[in-house]
Amino acid sequence: MPARPRVHLTAPVPREVAAALEGDFDLVDSPEGADGILVALTARVDERYLERAGPQLRVVANYAVGVNNIDLDATAARGVVVTNTPDVLTRATAELAVGLMLALLRRIAEGDRFIRRDSEWEFSLEFMLGSSLDGTELLIVGPGRIGRETARLAEAFGARSAFAGRGADLQGLLPAADVVSLHVPLTDATRHLIDAEALSAMRQSAVLVNVARGPVVDERALVDALRDGVIAGAALDVYEREPEVEEGLLSLENVVLTPHLGSATRDTRVAMGMLCVDALRAVLLEGRRPANAVG
Ligand code: GLV
Ligand code: GLV
Repeated sequence: MPARPRVHLTAPVPREVAAALEGDFDLVDSPEGADGILVALTARVDERYLERAGPQLRVVANYAVGVNNIDLDATAARGVVVTNTPDVLTRATAELAVGLMLALLRRIAEGDRFIRRDSEWEFSLEFMLGSSLDGTELLIVGPGRIGRETARLAEAFGARSAFAGRGADLQGLLPAADVVSLHVPLTDATRHLIDAEALSAMRQSAVLVNVARGPVVDERALVDALRDGVIAGAALDVYEREPEVEEGLLSLENVVLTPHLGSATRDTRVAMGMLCVDALRAVLLEGRRPANAVG
């Protein structure tokens, strides 16, 4: 029997995914000599990493939809196929975006922090009033699968959506939005897309939501804008220097912070893992390019 292909995992995976991998591959502790690599988004696959893995490497399955952690020029130059995990995480990520909007607008996280501080309180008619998602103008920056699904879910809460795609006049669209939600991939063109200038184009009453990638927002400029009342609030699931969080964000009440949970449901993570397993099988066992190849 020919040797089974060797697969390296850069991070532990759900047990269902591990079991599926073990059925077809030899799991190896190091990328050196691996035929396939299953990559968590915290690992950076660049020229150095590929050099270390070696010329036998044929496929890198990214356990994420965003592939900004992979140097696609370097993989292409070596003929290494790169795959991602589209579709299966669209709903989960859109759900988190809307959850963050509600948490921010209705002050859910702030209220939770307030209760946990053992604060004295009683019901009162003017206490901790927020605003509703109902009737808001939602600007989706990045009208891909996740952006469009976020709009669809938010519309069920009464929001009206507008979309800013590639080449759109973002500065021109920002002033009309009550909620700005980011769904672009991280590329050279989207790094610091939301900078001091973009923030100052937003309404003073508007809020920013980011479930995409941290560096799309200039985090320092965001802290200044929140402190100075340039915008009203922000909800972030991703960070510019992840897992580090800009210190200034931590003390602001008009900010909701979650630790990169966009796709973090068990079912979603298993489905993402199974897409990775299928991609590794396609390339390593069937010699074909999978539909979710991005490079
Ligand atoms: C998560 O951030 C992903 O890109 O899948
Ligand atoms: C990612 O899957 C997107 O298109 O939003």
